Amino acid sequence: AMIRKAAFSLPLTNLLAPHYQFKPDTKTYSGSDFYKLNIDRIKTHILPPGFPATTVDAYGDCDCMETFSYPAHTIIANSTLDKRGKQTLIQFNDNRDVTTHLLPLDASIHGADRAEPQIRSVVHLHGFKQVDEKSDGYPEAWKSPLGKKGEDFVNSESGHSVPHNPDPFVQQNKQAASLLWFHDHTLGITRLNVYAGLAGLYVLRDNNEQAMIDNGSLPSGAYEIPLALQDRMFHTDGSLAYPDRNPEIKSAPKLSMLPEFFGKVIVVNGIAWPYLEVEPRKYRFRLLNGSNARFYSLTLSNSAGFYVLGTEGGFLPAPVPTKSLTIGPGERYDFVIDFSAAAHNQTIILKNSANSPYPDGDDKVTAGLDDQIIQFRVTQPLSSVPRKSLPTRLRLPDTTVLKPVKTHQVLLAETVDPHGRVLPILGTVKEGIKHWMAPPTEVPKAFTTETWEIYNHTVDAHPVHLHGGHFKIIDRRTFSADDNDLKGLTHIKLSTVLEPKIPYEQTWKDTVIAWPGQMTRINVKFENAGLFVWHCHILEHEDHDMMRPLSVQ
Ligand code: C2O
Ligand code: CU
Repeated sequence: AMIRKAAFSLPLTNLLAPHYQFKPDTKTYSGSDFYKLNIDRIKTHILPPGFPATTVDAYGDCDCMETFSYPAHTIIANSTLDKRGKQTLIQFNDNRDVTTHLLPLDASIHGADRAEPQIRSVVHLHGFKQVDEKSDGYPEAWKSPLGKKGEDFVNSESGHSVPHNPDPFVQQNKQAASLLWFHDHTLGITRLNVYAGLAGLYVLRDNNEQAMIDNGSLPSGAYEIPLALQDRMFHTDGSLAYPDRNPEIKSAPKLSMLPEFFGKVIVVNGIAWPYLEVEPRKYRFRLLNGSNARFYSLTLSNSAGFYVLGTEGGFLPAPVPTKSLTIGPGERYDFVIDFSAAAHNQTIILKNSANSPYPDGDDKVTAGLDDQIIQFRVTQPLSSVPRKSLPTRLRLPDTTVLKPVKTHQVLLAETVDPHGRVLPILGTVKEGIKHWMAPPTEVPKAFTTETWEIYNHTVDAHPVHLHGGHFKIIDRRTFSADDNDLKGLTHIKLSTVLEPKIPYEQTWKDTVIAWPGQMTRINVKFENAGLFVWHCHILEHEDHDMMRPLSVQ
């Protein structure tokens, strides 16, 4: 049985703020911040007091058991565009002393279908635009505690050689301040490894941001709160629940995944439906949607607005006021809520109104469950830290002129797999759908910009994520086309009317929501040669089979 109790009648748990941080080792490799990132199976309290603990797989430093946590401790780094910045080195290892996965493993999925060990992993640092292919955590570059390696299992059809793990991974941190994150990226089981707990935040700072922190215009310290948002389900014994059958498809294997996972329990920083006690002042939130498949449309219960400061690639030019914000899996937003006008003891709830699958799916939000995310209780007295107004300008005007050398048209489509299940898939508009192992069709040149036109020919929104570069959204418009996804789209009719621009998206991004029936246009700047991937960040889609190699020349 799953726990399905009304959220806020449960005893709520205080959210720990600020979130735990890893301490870097600065000696082993001087001039660098060095972290050991290992995996262990631990018990943790996700559900409120009175409920049993939950077993998760967690990242931590192998020399220090207390650092294993779900989500992982946060890594904080400084941009090497500035003097005080250092590169980050990560020695990644999977030493789990177990042989079976925590969750039901569907062996019919590509990449989990052969003799691969159940316990295997590779870590990806999501959000770095300039990275060596080896340090990017290629999905087939996994390793297992028993010493097996992904590259020995690669399907030769693809004809590519897997960039294998360096030791340690190197991240140059050569980009502007933003919120990044790290998570598992193992072919065929990413959804399970991330769901089991393998995710953490990575905060990159720079001088521009620091100046705004120092002059008090950006809330910081206890007033800057990370929010890693994930939805989960639990069995009554506290263990994580993940569906293991597909009852609607008779021909599905006995142990089968579903096309998406949606949980009714909303977990923030590893705590179900937490509350945060706040002062009547501004707070800066660093939000990650780390859910497998759930989109969130956020509002405040008192109908107040808030200010969006930035997204995956860093700050917007200026704060963008809004009353609602939609965030898809993999996206991040940086926003400020001002509690100054709230009454003492007032409770304000961050609400969600997005249906699943987003935007028009049948799984509607349920009052008291997935329609509520976190409570803010304005109970704390105002400290002596002065309240200041937000900066009017967050970054210098962006003078980069993107000159695309090519337009590439890609396709989001659906077909069925050999078991009769829905198979969300990528492809090109000209040639039609392409499975993961088909040779790369995305082969941009390093250091150039390409326009990608993303045609979403499905009925759901997909968060499209590219490795190896950041992009800017140009526009979106609806289209119709002949229904022949297998071979490509023909008779495309593009609307002449542009969809309204979403003001809080207007800066560098690494993940974009492609709405159904729309063509989303982006300009991507590829920052390094190498073999990377692009995919839908709905993890069930990424595993089955919405991911493609991206071969930057
Ligand atoms: Cu957050 Cu390719 O992933
Ligand atoms: Cu998708």
